[in-house]
Amino acid sequence: MSDAALDVVEFVLTTSVYSDDRTLDENDLPPSYRRVFWTGGSDESEDDDDDSRTRGGITRPLSATNTTARQATDVDRPWEAVSGLMFTDRDEFSGTITFTEEGMAEQWYLDRTDDERLLENPTLAKHFAEHDEYDVDVSHEAARERNRPIQADRVWIDGLLEEYFDEEDDEEMLDLVDVRAPEEVDVTLDDLVLTAGQEAEIDKIAKAIEHRDYLAEIGLREIGKLLFVGPPGTGKTSTAQALAQDMDLPFVEVKLSMITSQYLGETAKNVDKTFEVAKRLSPCILFIDEFDFVAKTRRSDEHAALKRAVNTLLKSIDNISLIQDDVLLIGATNHPDQLDAAAWRRFDEIVNFPKPDYNMRADILRVITRQMRIDEFDPELIADATEGMTGSDLRMVLREAVLEALTEDRTMLTQEDLLNAVEEFEERDNLKNMDMIDGDHDALVAGGDVDGSGDDHGHDHDHDH
Ligand SMILES: Nc1ncnc2c1ncn2[C@@H]1O[C@H](COP(=O)(O)OP(=O)(O)O)[C@@H](O)[C@H]1O
Ligand SMILES: [Mg+2]
Repeated sequence: MSDAALDVVEFVLTTSVYSDDRTLDENDLPPSYRRVFWTGGSDESEDDDDDSRTRGGITRPLSATNTTARQATDVDRPWEAVSGLMFTDRDEFSGTITFTEEGMAEQWYLDRTDDERLLENPTLAKHFAEHDEYDVDVSHEAARERNRPIQADRVWIDGLLEEYFDEEDDEEMLDLVDVRAPEEVDVTLDDLVLTAGQEAEIDKIAKAIEHRDYLAEIGLREIGKLLFVGPPGTGKTSTAQALAQDMDLPFVEVKLSMITSQYLGETAKNVDKTFEVAKRLSPCILFIDEFDFVAKTRRSDEHAALKRAVNTLLKSIDNISLIQDDVLLIGATNHPDQLDAAAWRRFDEIVNFPKPDYNMRADILRVITRQMRIDEFDPELIADATEGMTGSDLRMVLREAVLEALTEDRTMLTQEDLLNAVEEFEERDNLKNMDMIDGDHDALVAGGDVDGSGDDHGHDHDHDH
């Protein structure tokens, strides 16, 4: 019997138990199930209830059809997968898959599952734990603890954003904050080569999150605000995202440079709202990139409203806490020299992101080429030839090599390709530096440089999607 049948039986069983047991709520459903049954206040909702402006939810009964089963389990033909079983039936008219003998279905399922799998499904964990005739070793609480809270689901996040920001705010908000569900973050810690110091900081923060009740008890509240410091392209953004992915937390990103005079009237308010959203999404990671913007704004004689927005931000940072609000704050800056004391003292840990040394470069090369085929690949040799380059630079080198090879219709790279790409990259780098020295910005315009700010951010425009 295939896994497909097991997946579908589990799904049908879950819809049935959930429909009957009114004490269960959305956090008892695995994320892939509740995504299917979530009806938001959005246009996607299928049945228009009277209270259409509520933020949505899951309405009983849950119906297991070919469509819902496919969406939830990824099984192509759900009915075909289970139609051969003695206890399954399908309503010709509605297409609903049901069990003729619930007890038989339960036993069939239990015979083929294990505790690990049951723990992934709080609805069934509760059901089987409650019935003494089934001898299972899992508790409802343990399964719920394990299950990702609905606050981390995309559908829930969208509903929340809709509630907080009306249409008119949308444009600015979309520029200013970006909220990603953990399932939408594709960077993992495995993809990143970290220094020992960075790893130690990550361990520390993971422990702090795990034991936050204890920390609250002993009155340790000044914890959970990290500042990532280092040149562009050294992995600050990726590491913050990977943490969100690793801990299964929503990732709320604030882009400070998007606080521009364009929408000043609303900005302070929106900064406030952003922190509110973060609290409502908690536990989550709030990532504030380009933190040097704060200090720069306070120093210069900017528009008063802009200063107000930045002061609102600093106040909001003071008022948010990992221990009380379950929000882990991570700031990042490429220009630590521009931070003032007011900005520094708001962070309790500083994490250094240096340019990678020889060994790290070799490791980064190994990581980013994992899926590539390279003849006579010698990462050490490339590491030797790429002194001073960041992880982002190395990615660009590899991209260049791949594209070059493709122009010769090759998907198999050679070490030679990589060395050529390194050379190419360095030439480009030299060109760029020349332009800086001459201050000849006309040359940059013709080259299509998109950075209108004139800041020398180097390779700061590597958007990794
Ligand atoms: N230490 C590293 N290990 C693996 N990849 C890295 C590392 N540093 C940077 N990169 C890669 O370079 C790209 C840019 O990194 P990013 O996190 O945006 O840097 P930053 O935020 O510091 O400017 C990403 O695709 C990332 O995967
Ligand atoms: Mg970044």
